[in-house]
Amino acid sequence: MDTRNPLFALMVERSNTAPKRLVAPGPTHEQLQLIFSAAAQAPDHGRIRPWRFVLVPSHKREDLGQAFVQALQMRDIQAGPAQLQAAYEKAFRAPCLMLAVLDKAPTQAEIETSERLISLGCAVQNMLLMAQTLRLGSGITSGKAMNAPSLRSLFQLTEHEQGVCFLNFGTVSTTKPARSRPVVEEFVSSL
Ligand SMILES: Cc1cc2nc3c(=O)[nH]c(=O)nc-3n(C[C@H](O)[C@H](O)[C@H](O)COP(=O)(O)O)c2cc1C
Repeated sequence: MDTRNPLFALMVERSNTAPKRLVAPGPTHEQLQLIFSAAAQAPDHGRIRPWRFVLVPSHKREDLGQAFVQALQMRDIQAGPAQLQAAYEKAFRAPCLMLAVLDKAPTQAEIETSERLISLGCAVQNMLLMAQTLRLGSGITSGKAMNAPSLRSLFQLTEHEQGVCFLNFGTVSTTKPARSRPVVEEFVSSL
């Protein structure tokens, strides 16, 4: 095994970049297609593709900002102007933003939600690694607004769908020190 292969190095270098540190240029159309093609390589028990992704283009960021504001107002009637403004601004950060949606609708092959979530997680990780390979930064965001009525309505989620997290892609403006990683021996054992 040639550990000098640059792909190995890139894989282990992936790290989360906060959306505020992801700036233009975002992925080109071709790069985005590669990122979605990577998602399509995810394992999928029952071949039900229990997930989808919804892009939020720049002309829809305003709508998302309003949805974040409504979500905050709904869960905290005392939220002040500064908090509402912060919630609104979250919609405008990374140049490429999308919602990852999990589908829990019953299917002929009975696939547990946990298995569906793993499939979505694999799709997401494939996308993050593809972005890394393209020298793009990526970050995941979530939070209490994920399934607020205002967001569910904006993204037209069906009864059985769940917004799991947002994926953010762009060019890394500033880097942070690498975090320490879990020690292999601490999460691997043998019977
Ligand atoms: C499902 C999911 C949701 C996440 N939501 C957030 C979030 O809301 N805010 C945030 O700062 N990071 C979020 N993250 C990113 C983690 O904070 C990040 O992966 C963690 O700090 C480890 O850093 P690393 O990805 O560089 O290893 C999320 C990650 C996952 C898997």
